[in-house]
Amino acid sequence: MTPWYLDVVLYEVYVRGFYDANGDGNGDLAGLTEKLEYIRDLGVGALWLLPIFPSPLRDDGYDISDFRSVHPELGTLDDLKRLLDRAHQLGLRVLLDLVVNHTSDQHPWFQSARRGPGHPYHDYYVWSPTADRYRDARIIFLDTERSNWTLEPGCGLYYWHRFFSHQPDLNYDNPEVRREMLEIARFWFELGVDGFRVDAVPYLFEREGTSCENLPETHAFLRELRKVADSFVPPRVLLAEANQPIEELLPYLGGDEFHMAFHFALMPRIFMAVHSEHCGPLVEILARTASLPESCQWAMFLRNHDELTLEMVSAEERDYMLRAFAPEPRMRLNLGIRRRLWPLMMGGRRQIELLHGLLLGLPGCAVLYYGDELGMGDDIERADRMGVRSPMQWSSGRNAGFSRASPRRLYTPPITSPEYHYAGRNVESLERKPTSFLNWLRRMIRTHRAQRAFRGRELALVSTDNPHTLAFVRRSDGDSILCVHNLSRFVQPVRLQLERFRGRTPIEVIGGAVFPAIDGPEAFLSLGPHSFFWLRLSDA
Ligand code: NOJ
Repeated sequence: MTPWYLDVVLYEVYVRGFYDANGDGNGDLAGLTEKLEYIRDLGVGALWLLPIFPSPLRDDGYDISDFRSVHPELGTLDDLKRLLDRAHQLGLRVLLDLVVNHTSDQHPWFQSARRGPGHPYHDYYVWSPTADRYRDARIIFLDTERSNWTLEPGCGLYYWHRFFSHQPDLNYDNPEVRREMLEIARFWFELGVDGFRVDAVPYLFEREGTSCENLPETHAFLRELRKVADSFVPPRVLLAEANQPIEELLPYLGGDEFHMAFHFALMPRIFMAVHSEHCGPLVEILARTASLPESCQWAMFLRNHDELTLEMVSAEERDYMLRAFAPEPRMRLNLGIRRRLWPLMMGGRRQIELLHGLLLGLPGCAVLYYGDELGMGDDIERADRMGVRSPMQWSSGRNAGFSRASPRRLYTPPITSPEYHYAGRNVESLERKPTSFLNWLRRMIRTHRAQRAFRGRELALVSTDNPHTLAFVRRSDGDSILCVHNLSRFVQPVRLQLERFRGRTPIEVIGGAVFPAIDGPEAFLSLGPHSFFWLRLSDA
């Protein structure tokens, strides 16, 4: 049987923003449990929950102060157990977000450690008398941090942090730290969690003279983590957040570390291809995407809770993306673009459908970001990445149906800009409208799941005579689907080299239309602006 994660559609949930069951203005685990049927009905098979642990929330939960319980505003361990039970009844898997690299400075470990050498947990963190070690490590949060070292007045030493200065990095050279983290993983697996999205995996170890990323020691620890995941029945699943170039990403998917990894190198190139109306950016990265071991899979995504990161493209490509998608400086953050999918594409429905056609059609499991199925907007006036984390829009009622709290108690208000106002963009209205994007996407996910050819990892690019188009064949279990995309805003003719499918009859998989048989080395198609076809190449 195919392991579930190889062809699942994954839904990323911001628990605080999803549904508020107790009326305190924050979404919670009980609220999410109430809404699981909605997620199941999208055709999704698994959820990834953003961090739910106690935290001072200076990085929205990625700054953890206790790894073994639930943030009181989001619920309790029992609420989580109820969520897991209900999700499993509905056939949904649940991944939590495990932040392995750092803690909050409010974590009791750091509170003790900062008092100085000799105090308990001091060696859980990375210290130095000066701020000039590991100079070859880049700064990731460029807009807020000047250095990866911060002076701790409590002991007169500097501590190491790859992200915010309130997020000290754990010292993985300390075997106690490694043991703690493996125990923490075991704790959640025992509770019934199906796996983790593991945060910031490249940065666990530091070595002088290196970038302090992807070090062999880091890979060795991740293999230990995998062993823990494998020791459960059924085995738990690990998804890597390693924002790295493709060549550095592949070792995480060698077979004995992660089951899945986000394809950070491909994501911006999907946007580049559609914006430049040219297949070049995608052809190039697909050619560099080597095939993976049987047990591994890419996690494909368009947007998530962070900025659209542009760390993995060249400086020229980054300039291009910024000019195209973030004309105003306040739309930018660090090296990326802090906007949601729909405003990024200026609400262009056809382009957004095309992006989802690529997301589902390319090999990998598709990861959807909550609210993008509704065409939710963003608010660039809100600080940091909060503009893309606004409440889920359930109805046109009070607080977009997200919470019965008084509007001023909400963790952040729903989107009310004219174009994206929740009055029109909400689950209740869009479910009722047969032509809504929500219903279109549900249909596409259903169609995708019904096609065996999409289950494999194989992709063969098809040569064409038109660079405004991209074509490939997906094959699995003797089934083949030809995916053809028009990346441009104009009608395009395209000749496809399909010699090996000579004699086959293409059948469009959604409506069932039968196309003329391929009776020569080439097939000819005409494509409407930003349109795409999924054509089953039947033997008949
Ligand atoms: C990656 C997460 O996606 C991001 O939201 C967070 O700020 C950093 N890791 C630091 O944990």
